[in-house]
Amino acid sequence: MKTRSGRILLSALACAAVSLAGWRADAESNRVTFPDNLDRLVHYTTVTRGNVTEHILTSREAIDAVKSGQPVPNGTHFVLVDYRDGAVFRYFVMEKGEGWGTDYDERRRTGDWQFQWFNPDQTINMNENTARCQSCHQGREDSQYLYTFNDISVFE
Ligand code: HEC
Repeated sequence: MKTRSGRILLSALACAAVSLAGWRADAESNRVTFPDNLDRLVHYTTVTRGNVTEHILTSREAIDAVKSGQPVPNGTHFVLVDYRDGAVFRYFVMEKGEGWGTDYDERRRTGDWQFQWFNPDQTINMNENTARCQSCHQGREDSQYLYTFNDISVFE
């Protein structure tokens, strides 16, 4: 009897853990979409590190805004295409939308930018908590949350 109820309790706990994990993934507010104009975005810089090659892209409008000291327009995508050994390994995407910052509390917020990790088939990596992306990019608050801000400034 004792063993049996112990087992029931354990499996109830396991279920709770599974549904809790599911709830966390669903609860993360995220509006980022995979850009439907990837082929029209401008590849303005490349970062290489060992077997990793990152192509970083955005719209011409966003590049022009940065160069003229203006905020990049709402609706802008920045895409970091991460190639490993010549094949797409993942896409990191930042997208900006009017009022999107208010989806998060102030400590997590990165202006009106939201972040997402897409697999090579453009589906979302549900295991990623994009608070991690935001916490690192918060360090670039003075550069519109962009790490490659200076590369844009010098891009023709
Ligand atoms: C530990 C710090 C750190 C974390 C975490 C991080 N990034 Fe970045 N991100 C960078 C750096 C540094 C660059 C500049 C490129 C480079 O050096 O690889 C960058 C560049 C980018 C760019 C190109 C635009 C820009 O800011 O220059 C995008 C898009 C991006 N990251 C998205 C993401 C997403 C999405 C996540 C989470 C899944 C993420 N980042 C997590 C540091 C970080």
